[in-house]
Amino acid sequence: MITTILIVGLILLILRTVINDFRSSNPLEEQEKDETVLAGKFTPQTLAKYNGSDNPRIFIAVKGRVFDVTQGKTFYGPGGPYANFAGRDASRGLALNSFEESCLTPLDEPIDDLKGLTKEELESLENWEDHFENKYKVVGTLGNE
Ligand code: HEM
Ligand SMILES: *[C@@H]1O[C@H](CO)[C@@H](O)[C@H](O)[C@H]1NC(C)=O
Repeated sequence: MITTILIVGLILLILRTVINDFRSSNPLEEQEKDETVLAGKFTPQTLAKYNGSDNPRIFIAVKGRVFDVTQGKTFYGPGGPYANFAGRDASRGLALNSFEESCLTPLDEPIDDLKGLTKEELESLENWEDHFENKYKVVGTLGNE
């Protein structure tokens, strides 16, 4: 009897440890602990915190979705060739194949509606979107508030 109780207790303990491990390795769960982000909803300002300097994680937005590109920090980290995109909406820059500052929407302005891009430029953006989808995880969406 006592043996049975001990075994059941041990199994419950192990289960709890496994479940807790699983929870803390879930990136979305960790993100919710971060007060700056509410359930994966970013604004240009909250996204900007993930530019790789204060926070080791790097996020960029493509067509309203936020990707965790931390794995690509040689590209987007401080000093990287595409560091301009870190913590920002990269959509217009990707469409135009440009990392000019003028392709980035200032943080206090509404999100880029991508008006004025040609069909080819929008297609180029879609190809980049595929690239990001295949390589990185979506961690949220970008909205104005
Ligand atoms: C001088 C011209 C350029 C060269 C030589 C170059 C070179 C490269 C190389 C070697 C890669 C890595 C490919 C891979 O291993 O997956 C790459 C990726 C990339 N390049 Fe360029 N690039 C150039 C211009 C640009 C421009 C103008 C943009 C602006 C949009 C850009 C945006 C990117 C992006 C977003 C990636 C993907 C990085 C990732 O997978 O996270 N590149 N580039
Ligand atoms: C990254 O964000 C921090 C604030 O979170 C800011 O001080 C820093 O200037 C930003 N770096 C770049 C390259 O924008």
